[in-house]
Amino acid sequence: MEIILQPDAESASRLAARLIARLVREKPDAVLGLATGGTPLLVYRELIRLHREEGLDFSRVTTFNLDEYIGLAPEHPQSYHAYMREHLFRHLNIPPENTHLPEGLAADVPKECEAYEQAIRAAGGIDLQLLGIGADGHIGFNEPTSSLASRTRIKTLARRTVEDNARFFDGDASKVPRHCITMGIGTILEARRVVLLAFGKSKALAIAETVEGPVSANVPASVLQHHPVAKLFLDEEAGAELRRADYYRWIYANKPAWQQDA
Ligand code: PGA
Repeated sequence: MEIILQPDAESASRLAARLIARLVREKPDAVLGLATGGTPLLVYRELIRLHREEGLDFSRVTTFNLDEYIGLAPEHPQSYHAYMREHLFRHLNIPPENTHLPEGLAADVPKECEAYEQAIRAAGGIDLQLLGIGADGHIGFNEPTSSLASRTRIKTLARRTVEDNARFFDGDASKVPRHCITMGIGTILEARRVVLLAFGKSKALAIAETVEGPVSANVPASVLQHHPVAKLFLDEEAGAELRRADYYRWIYANKPAWQQDA
C-alpha cells in the first residue's frame, strides 16, 4: 500500500486524476473502474478539465462502475447511472456503449451479477479501480463482514451507509434504497491497480484501520493490504488517525524520480 497524504482534497484529487490521465495516455483503450459518492467528484472535475484543455482522449476507454441501487431506474436522479452521466460521462467523449453500471431494475439479479462479471472479463479486466471508502470501512457497497472473496452480487446496505447517503435523498433516510448490486471484494482485488480516495475526518478511523489494522472482513478496505498496487490518496483529516503519518510522508517525499508518477 502506498499512503499519499496531501494538505487537502483538491491536491489529492489532482494527483489521482494525473495517475488516471497517464494510464489513459499510455493505454488509450484502458478499462477504468469508477466510483460514485461525494469523494470522487474532484477527480472527475480534473479529468473533465484535462479532456477539455489538454485533449485527454476517452474515445476508446471502457468503464465499469462499482455499484448501483436496486429498484432505481437509470433515469432516477439518485441512481448511480444518473450520477455518472451528470458528473462525468456527458462531459467526456466516452462512447455510451463503453460505459457499464449494474442494472438496478434487473428482473433476475443473480443473472445480472454474473453478466457483469462476464463483461469485465470480456473487456480484459480492470486496469485501474477508483474507490472511496465508507465510514464503516466498506469499499463498493461491500459492508463489514462481506466475504473477502466475494463477486458481484446483491447486498443490503448497513444502517450507517443508509444514514450517510440520505444527504443525496433530500436528507430522508427512508428514501434510500436498502439493497444494491455491488462488485465483490474479489472482483475489486483483480483490478491491476487500485486508487482509494478518502477525505474528511469522518473517514479517519476507517483509514487507520485499513492501513494499520489487521486484514479483516470487519473493515473490508483492509483487504487492500493484499493488493500489489494499491495507492491511498488522503487529505490531512482522513489521515489524522494514522500512527505512522510521518513515515508515509517521508517515503512519499523520497520516492525515486522514475517512480513518481507510477
Ligand atoms: P462518499 O462515499 O464518497 O459519499 O463519502 C464513499 C463510500 O461510501 O464508498
